[in-house]
Amino acid sequence: MSKTIIISNRLPLQISIENDHLEVTPSVGGLATGLKSFHKDGDSVWIGWPGLTEEEIPEKLKGEVQKKAKDENCVAVNLSSDEIDGFYYGFSNRTVWPLFHYFMEYTEADDTYWKFYKQVNQKYADEILKYYEEGDVIWVHDYQLLLVPNMVREKAPEAVIGFFNHIPFPSYEVFRTLPWRDEVLEGVLGADLIGFHTYDYERHFLSSVSRILRYQVDFNEITLPDRIVKVDSFPMGIDYKKFEQAALDHFKNTEDQQSELQRRLNHHLESTPDAKLILSIDRLDYTKGIALRIRAFEYFLDKYPEFIEKVRLVMLAVPSRSNVPQYRRLKREVDELVGRINGKFSTVSWTPIWYFYRSMPFENLIDLYTSCGIALLTPIRDGMNLVAKEYIATRTNHTGVLILSEMAGAAHEMNEALIINPNNFEQVAQALCTAFGMPEEEQIQRNKMLQKRLRRYSVEKWANDFMKALHATRENRDAFK
Ligand code: UDP
Ligand code: G6P
Repeated sequence: MSKTIIISNRLPLQISIENDHLEVTPSVGGLATGLKSFHKDGDSVWIGWPGLTEEEIPEKLKGEVQKKAKDENCVAVNLSSDEIDGFYYGFSNRTVWPLFHYFMEYTEADDTYWKFYKQVNQKYADEILKYYEEGDVIWVHDYQLLLVPNMVREKAPEAVIGFFNHIPFPSYEVFRTLPWRDEVLEGVLGADLIGFHTYDYERHFLSSVSRILRYQVDFNEITLPDRIVKVDSFPMGIDYKKFEQAALDHFKNTEDQQSELQRRLNHHLESTPDAKLILSIDRLDYTKGIALRIRAFEYFLDKYPEFIEKVRLVMLAVPSRSNVPQYRRLKREVDELVGRINGKFSTVSWTPIWYFYRSMPFENLIDLYTSCGIALLTPIRDGMNLVAKEYIATRTNHTGVLILSEMAGAAHEMNEALIINPNNFEQVAQALCTAFGMPEEEQIQRNKMLQKRLRRYSVEKWANDFMKALHATRENRDAFK
């Protein structure tokens, strides 16, 4: 029976070593959280990195790592610490990630990183080929594996290969600055179908292909000497029912079933009934506009001091990629900003920002989503932003206001949110005032529309649409012969 081979750099499960034994935790990030439900329901094997380097796993535990992965239909790829440095912290996160998010000043062009990127992409391609059987469908994910489609194609010319990019694709003017731009484009073009979250990313990709490689592009088809490659946009959704159900279950909890976090949130809400909690959740990443958000919050409190003791920013920042200098710098900047602003505005009974620097289990995310009347998400650039969608899905009584940056892919589908430019503090402050004063009927009206759309365009539909389009490329191929 044919299967789907999913391949991404990070597996949906993360393995760590605690006191000589293995701990398994779910991975953070939209790719892993989103794709997990597709993987769970289907006949698929998922190949990726479990989060530990070869050197970190003691010899006696190596077999057990594979077993833990296998229990969840996954295959763990072994990467050495040199490979992780050059491929993951290097080319993936110091070259492609900043460039594709328009942070050109952070983008490094280093030959060693590139060498490791090619080497590890080849390793992933070889791993796919070990599991690939005729009739299988191969689905490659994200910017860490841009060369994999063509590497697989070279060895298995008949394979059906899809590629999905979970981050933005930058405009040609930005992409063209990459020294290895031809190789990267040729790498992705090994796929039969290439998917992006939005039409803009798709358009940028097509224009780079046509201007850099000079292939013929007609509408959303690229003609290669021997094949046609299809490009399309598929905005990724969430497992709507899972979030909705979790919120419904959450409200059934008796007081002693509630988490410690929920009790603290309740305490705050009960002691100041006219106050509101403002939520933000992101990986600690410079693309997420976390420092800008804190500054905009300061601007808001300076300009509207009547909100002192009336609002609190509950900020969850999940540690991410901390070997990359910009992430370490951002951590320091955020620590300082939180300290300064709490020092500036705190009263004896109130601190303006509650800051958590860690990841939280699913139940606690639900506590946060359901307790905060406003969500403030201000990425400077974001492929999609699933947090925005998850927040709306958990608002089962339909109240709550989402303030969302226009730079997030999700903003294209979430017009009923308050859409802002995160660089415009005045606009962010105005949106906070509007959110605070928005009548409940208006909140309900906006959220019902958002919910209807999110329920319909779930992650299941996203995966099915992509798969359907990928299968259709087979027919294209026959027509080309
Ligand atoms: N998330 C998580 N644990 C946390 C915080 C966040 O699993 O402690 C999840 C969150 O529910 C969401 C994902 O991480 O599904 C973040 O995805 P998003 O698209 O917003 O951003 P990304 O991290 O992919 O850039
Ligand atoms: C984003 C990327 C994913 C990545 C995730 C977490 O969602 O699109 O590919 O897995 O961030 O980042 P990390 O570097 O920890 O895998």
